[in-house]
Amino acid sequence: MKLWAGRFSKDIDKRTNDFNSSVSFDSRMYAQDIEGSIAHAKMLTAKGIISIEDGVSIIYGLMGIRSDIDEGKLVIDPNAEDIHTFIEQTLTERIGDAGKRLHTGRSRNDQVALDIRLYLRDECDAVIDLLRDLIKSLNTKGEENAHAIMPGYTHLQRAQPITFKAHLSAYTEMLKRDIGRVEDAKKRMNVSPLGSGALAGTTYPVDRQLVADLLDFDSYTASTLDGVSDRDFCIELASALSLIMVHLSRLSEEIVLWCSWEFKFIELDDAFSTGSSIMPQKKNPDITELVRGKSGRVFGDLMGLLTVMKGIPLAYNKDMQEDKEAVFDAFDTVKICLTTLVPMIDTMKVIPENMRKAAAGGFINATDCADYLVSKGLPFRDAYKATGEVVALCIKEGKTLETLSLEEYKGICELFDDGVYEAINLENCVKRRGM
Ligand code: ARG
Repeated sequence: MKLWAGRFSKDIDKRTNDFNSSVSFDSRMYAQDIEGSIAHAKMLTAKGIISIEDGVSIIYGLMGIRSDIDEGKLVIDPNAEDIHTFIEQTLTERIGDAGKRLHTGRSRNDQVALDIRLYLRDECDAVIDLLRDLIKSLNTKGEENAHAIMPGYTHLQRAQPITFKAHLSAYTEMLKRDIGRVEDAKKRMNVSPLGSGALAGTTYPVDRQLVADLLDFDSYTASTLDGVSDRDFCIELASALSLIMVHLSRLSEEIVLWCSWEFKFIELDDAFSTGSSIMPQKKNPDITELVRGKSGRVFGDLMGLLTVMKGIPLAYNKDMQEDKEAVFDAFDTVKICLTTLVPMIDTMKVIPENMRKAAAGGFINATDCADYLVSKGLPFRDAYKATGEVVALCIKEGKTLETLSLEEYKGICELFDDGVYEAINLENCVKRRGM
């Protein structure tokens, strides 16, 4: 039987029920739904809107449902309209009339707006913890290889010498901003919608602040219409999660490159790699490729949410039921990516010799050579031009800046002396840049 059966003369068509039902994806919020209902029941009792006896019976009934679902003793009915309906109906089956009083002064519209906020609050904390784990892993890898010098790239062309540690710390900066964005969105979301009712509040003397306090919210929504129809927080979070995926995808792309035979800067642990069904020699970085690929899902979730919300009039509309799968998927995806990336990075072997070898080619110390001439009094543009000629000579002679003789240097610019070899030494180059 439907909650709204009174007005209807027919039972719902199965196809309507299946199409309309959200229980297959909102049942994951059962704990939050019960937590919200307990707070609501406490408030109704405190305000004398329901009797103490009913209040106590509701609260114990809800606690029993919670532990029965936790322990698998109560199976959520897949044909229920949604998790809110299932819990309320189960409560009434168990405790009788008192169960029917729980929904006094409340609508599923403010109830669902509350449940998602409570659920996503915990999800934010989980993602923040995982981001912190990844920052720690990257810092540790950098510290363990503090002296590893590699070519820094622009346009994927060797550009200037850098340390591996400096390269990784660019990612830790991105991840720190990601944490800030999630915290920021979480803060804005942390406002209780309960008391908004269906859209126009309630005529009962509810205490919205008490409910907000019981559920650890900073405040409650000022507009009841906004309280039930705001999903900005889903969009903000999906946006923050999309940026996280941009960062994880870029890191993944670099790891794919680094473990190729062309680079071989790192080697992934066997436990975090995969093989080929036909090529016996293969060891593939599937994890990183999947992270790169899964970024598309999260961007899709964000686009879906924006599109769902853009054209609906105030206040609640059923379109909004589409919010959950998108935002849940975005969180699930980011969490599984981080959960797998962290141990993969912890166990990957860094090969500083190969980084150093790559850094020795490609004339990545040419800027330092030009800077050296500047220190001898030459204007930078002239120093740049002279160094360009030095590089051209090296290419012609099959030499490097390190193996070119002083005579050859002097043939291009009289200002060169023995000090040039110190200036272009890669270790000195990175040290001078404070890496
Ligand atoms: N399952 C619904 C959702 O996720 C709950 C709210 C239903 N409200 C209503 N008026 N039909 O949005």
